[in-house]
Amino acid sequence: MKNQWQLDSWRNYSVQHGPNYVDIKQLEDVEKTLRGFPPLVFAGEVRSLTRSLEAASEGQAFVLQGGDCAESFAEFHADNIRDTFRVLLQMAVVLTAGTNLPIVKMGRMAGQFAKPRSSNTESQNGLELPSYKGDIINDIEFDKNKRLADPSRMLKAYSQAASTLNLLRAFAEGGYADLKHVQSWNMGFVKSGAQGERYGHLANQIQENLQFMEALGIDSGNTPQLRKVEFFTSHEALLLPFEEAMTRTDSTTDEIYNTSAHFVWIGDRTRFLDSAHVEFCRGIKNPIGFKCGPTMNPDELIKLLDVLNPNNDAGRITIITRFGKDKIADSLPKLIKKIQQEGRSVVWSCDPMHGNTIKSSSGIKTRPFNHILEEVKQNIQIHQAEGTHAGGIHLEMTGQNVTECTGGLADITESDLSDRYHTHCDPRLNANQAIELAFLIADELKTNGH
Ligand code: PEP
Ligand code: CO
Repeated sequence: MKNQWQLDSWRNYSVQHGPNYVDIKQLEDVEKTLRGFPPLVFAGEVRSLTRSLEAASEGQAFVLQGGDCAESFAEFHADNIRDTFRVLLQMAVVLTAGTNLPIVKMGRMAGQFAKPRSSNTESQNGLELPSYKGDIINDIEFDKNKRLADPSRMLKAYSQAASTLNLLRAFAEGGYADLKHVQSWNMGFVKSGAQGERYGHLANQIQENLQFMEALGIDSGNTPQLRKVEFFTSHEALLLPFEEAMTRTDSTTDEIYNTSAHFVWIGDRTRFLDSAHVEFCRGIKNPIGFKCGPTMNPDELIKLLDVLNPNNDAGRITIITRFGKDKIADSLPKLIKKIQQEGRSVVWSCDPMHGNTIKSSSGIKTRPFNHILEEVKQNIQIHQAEGTHAGGIHLEMTGQNVTECTGGLADITESDLSDRYHTHCDPRLNANQAIELAFLIADELKTNGH
């Protein structure tokens, strides 16, 4: 029997990958300030997301979740937000056309600032400093003072998340996402590439369909579904003092919501049973996810679900699997079989990024596009064979023309990586690679989907 959950009961559990704040008084002052700030998201929106995820768990929707590995203060710019949003819209169009399912659109945006790291420290030229843990915690610059965990960075992260969300809401609801603009989302360097051409062709078909519907009297003026999209935000709930301070009781239902994002997930390194992150997340009403790598075993998975979703509510849990192309065939079927045996309701999402990270010959972290694709394909085929639904995809991507993952139609090579390698943490798909992947997923779901 678990003890009573409280907002701060996580403090009695094992906190891994958290920062060591030195100035506790400053930390407490920041937490107090955050508690007084307005919520970033609202309970009604979160409930709407849960309903969409419930549909995804039943194969009636598909989840598209993507964005930076780590958002940064330095890359904060309206153009970056717009470009990532635009590519997600393009991918959603491609996936809708391929699956005939509603696509649940979720950004790793407006709060994806805290990073677990494989090593607590980093050494350069004989100097050892704390690792960079994301802009909400410390600075990426390799400098003794800048690497110290600074609580005031949480206030800056809140402010950046609020402005990002404000812009995303404007894009989603203010006309930019109107389906009649489907062609104009295809811009810049994307448009001129092979993917841009394929997308342009699809967009033309959609425009013809819209004209047909308009002749019948259905247009974006009278049909909100054509005019705006629901767009949700998400991040890893790693920095618990921040997450706790943003968690509030909803006045209309008395339920407890983490108002820092619609959806939060627990990372692969912090989803163990005695974890403070698991304890915190079990008490919030938001839909939650957790990452599952090769070290997860079927019994542990069920124990985790017993804690996080004791009533087996549909839409509550998304399992984000990230095994890597070489391990998925061994790891995933065991977990699916157990979930099926136990009759648990989950959304199965595939993160083909984190199990496929390699070091290039020059020592830069990268991910070969064909390995990513390989895991995605196997994922869809395994779900098909087991009679379950491949319910979503979780990607690290950007709308920018970066060179961080190798391969894809533009065939980025290892020697190209240094050209435009801007990520603050893991390598992301660029806009062309993201759209290419969306087409490949749509094709694969069409032929092997369930
Ligand atoms: C991430 O999503 O950036 C991450 C750290 O993933 P994981 O927990 O799967 O390693
Ligand atoms: Co990452």
